[in-house]
Amino acid sequence: MIQVEGLTKRYARNVAVDHVSFSVEKGQIVGFLGPNGAGKTTTMRMLTCFMPPTEGTATIAGFDVIKQPLEVKKRIGYLPETPPVYPDMEVGEYLQFVARIKGVAEKDVLARSQEVATRCFVKDVWSKLIGKLSKGYRQRVGLAQAIIHNPDVLILDEPTSGFDPKQIIETRDLIKSLAGDHTIVLSTHILQEVKAMCESLVIINKGKIATSGRLDDLTRRNGAVLEVSVPEGASSSDEITAPFEGIEGVTAVTASDDGGLWRVDVDTATDADLRPKLAQIVLGKGWNLYRLDAAAVSLDDMFLRLTAAAEEVGQ
Ligand SMILES: Nc1ncnc2c1ncn2[C@@H]1O[C@H](COP(=O)(O)OP(=O)(O)OP(=O)(O)O)[C@@H](O)[C@H]1O
Ligand SMILES: [Mg+2]
Repeated sequence: MIQVEGLTKRYARNVAVDHVSFSVEKGQIVGFLGPNGAGKTTTMRMLTCFMPPTEGTATIAGFDVIKQPLEVKKRIGYLPETPPVYPDMEVGEYLQFVARIKGVAEKDVLARSQEVATRCFVKDVWSKLIGKLSKGYRQRVGLAQAIIHNPDVLILDEPTSGFDPKQIIETRDLIKSLAGDHTIVLSTHILQEVKAMCESLVIINKGKIATSGRLDDLTRRNGAVLEVSVPEGASSSDEITAPFEGIEGVTAVTASDDGGLWRVDVDTATDADLRPKLAQIVLGKGWNLYRLDAAAVSLDDMFLRLTAAAEEVGQ
């Protein structure tokens, strides 16, 4: 649905986006992550035809953002960093205005505007001037205008910024409910939000892609983590690690005592799931099992590592 190839934006002094390539399948929600100044907004502006790339190509539903901007704009809903709202218009009036600009049939304009107002929780401020709304409410109006023409693709630049906790949860639910029919790219600084909503992610740092792929694949790590206790007490960490060390494929076992509960990290060279075997060993020893999880890299660790690494190479 979205194909990006070598997309580049150069300003006079710096390269904001540097040969970025990624693709997004239909119906997916992709998280676009990166520190401040990484190039998220610039990339989104190029995808939505708000700014031409210096180099490279991007297609939305098969249409080229440079050669076929009108076709692209019909199929895309965009919530920019600052919502494109007019302060001296009432919410309902504005939504109907946008619906007309975006080609919603005249007979459907009112119903469609009311529908998105309800979906984005702005029905209660329908007759209020946008300029008198709070930041969070203005952001909700911004989201409503992005989906009003039922576009195939939604590009949302920090969609929950400025929301209160209840609104964050409701907006995440709304965005998730839009996936499937819509393909969604959203930028955020909240890693929790990526975990809650996105199947895939693209991490960008200093204009370059640091990594991209399915969230499960990127955070998968071979091995398992256990928490056990030894009823009569353990004499040392060796007593805890020994039974696991002989298992085929196990490369390292470490144990640390956390107030009587032992945390055991079992690393493996294969991606075979050793958890049933580990459980048998624990029970066979007469220990108590409190936790047994497949090992995973935390998204936070991965993000910090990837965005710090590029800093070290000093670019
Ligand atoms: N109009 C402009 N002229 C010159 N440089 C610009 C312009 N707009 C953005 N930049 C630069 O491009 C880089 C990328 O900015 P961009 O706004 O895309 O980052 P971002 O990832 O969206 O950051 P944030 O998380 O803060 O929103 C930054 O170094 C920024 O200073
Ligand atoms: Mg930005």
